[in-house]
Amino acid sequence: MYMKNKLAINGGGKIVKYEAQAKFNWPIVDKKIEQAVIRQLYKTISIYNKSDIFEKFENLFCKYQKRKYALLFNSGTSAIHAMFVALNLKPGDEVICPVYTFYATVTPLLFTGAIPIFCDIDENGNINPYEIEKKITKKTKAVVITHMWGIPCQMDKILEICRKNRLVLLEDCSHAHGAEYKGKKLGSFGDLSAWSLQGQKILTGGEGGVLTTNNKEYYDRALLLGHYNKRCKQEISPDSPLYKFAVTGMGLKYRAHPLAVAIANEYLSRLDKWLAIKRIFAQRIIIRLKNYAAITLPQINNQKIKPSWYAFVFQYHENKTGVSINKFYQALKQEGLVEVDQPGSTCPLNLLPLFQKPAELFPIYRQYKFSYKKGEFPKAESFYNNAVKIPVWARVQDWPAMKLYIDGIEKVLININELK
Ligand SMILES: Cc1ncc(COP(=O)(O)O)c(C=O)c1O
Repeated sequence: MYMKNKLAINGGGKIVKYEAQAKFNWPIVDKKIEQAVIRQLYKTISIYNKSDIFEKFENLFCKYQKRKYALLFNSGTSAIHAMFVALNLKPGDEVICPVYTFYATVTPLLFTGAIPIFCDIDENGNINPYEIEKKITKKTKAVVITHMWGIPCQMDKILEICRKNRLVLLEDCSHAHGAEYKGKKLGSFGDLSAWSLQGQKILTGGEGGVLTTNNKEYYDRALLLGHYNKRCKQEISPDSPLYKFAVTGMGLKYRAHPLAVAIANEYLSRLDKWLAIKRIFAQRIIIRLKNYAAITLPQINNQKIKPSWYAFVFQYHENKTGVSINKFYQALKQEGLVEVDQPGSTCPLNLLPLFQKPAELFPIYRQYKFSYKKGEFPKAESFYNNAVKIPVWARVQDWPAMKLYIDGIEKVLININELK
């Protein structure tokens, strides 16, 4: 069938016959979402404390994650900011960070004056635990990790390192809603964890974020950062030394929008069903494509490791085919695979001006100097340059779309010599 066909880029028939077949429409909006928004709209669209839809979502999320405290934010970035502020970091403290992540995993740290110490990656693009160990100094206070594209980091090793060195562990789970590592949900390993609820995310409210912890002092500090007055008065104990700041908090306002939370609340009830389908689809991708030497697929070596499959990201090797990644990518697009993507802003952070010349925007780094350069993290830079990303659909009825991507990628791989 398609295997014998000429590639579309060379004038052959396309795998995708019309564009709508291959579109990934996310989030899924339907009557139930519409009703949830309208219901909330007539109740209230500004909530000052832990009540109404905030209370409902946070309690459900605590239960889902088996954590004591959950706190909603207006974005994942704000929730990550709160994780760093919760630690009461001082200028010059060091926090070990993944070099390959979306930048908001690290950018809020710059407001504390602490120094991000980057680590190169493992085979899946996640922070490499051995690199973490190498970078620990007397100034290291914490480790932050991101489960990239929904694939769990090497948690056994990371937990061991953090325990041994008494380091606080923070998880950025923005790609990994509902993912599991050996029977435990990601986000329940860290001392603090944060999720984005932004529009592309598996669990979304359009914009939003959420933080969890089991530690009341961390929780109180996270409240003070962005949830001043009523909520701080409601939840921080009058006996706490932090209570005197309840009216102003730290002066920022990071509250979520109730309509966003109403949406996320409805989606939370669908999350596990979606993840089950995504896992079946990802398995089918792996079975069909695992034997092509031109690509390397994510390595999941234990059945108890259950990614969320936020996206399916694989590596393409120019040196094995003699065909550039750009040509490969163009050939996929010509087959009609419109959602094939080369991640752009999610890049090794040492390539970004903010981490090369931080002092120009954050004067504190004239004193606590750090500066990264291109070429310092070869594994992450290579992973980034070779990455090809496709969506993973979440509903049974979307299998035909998912299959088109598998067929299209296989067609291009089989006929790769046509691209020379
Ligand atoms: C890994 C990661 N961390 C943090 C964020 C920031 O979340 P938000 O856009 O909700 O601020 C994102 C968003 O794309 C992300 O992918």
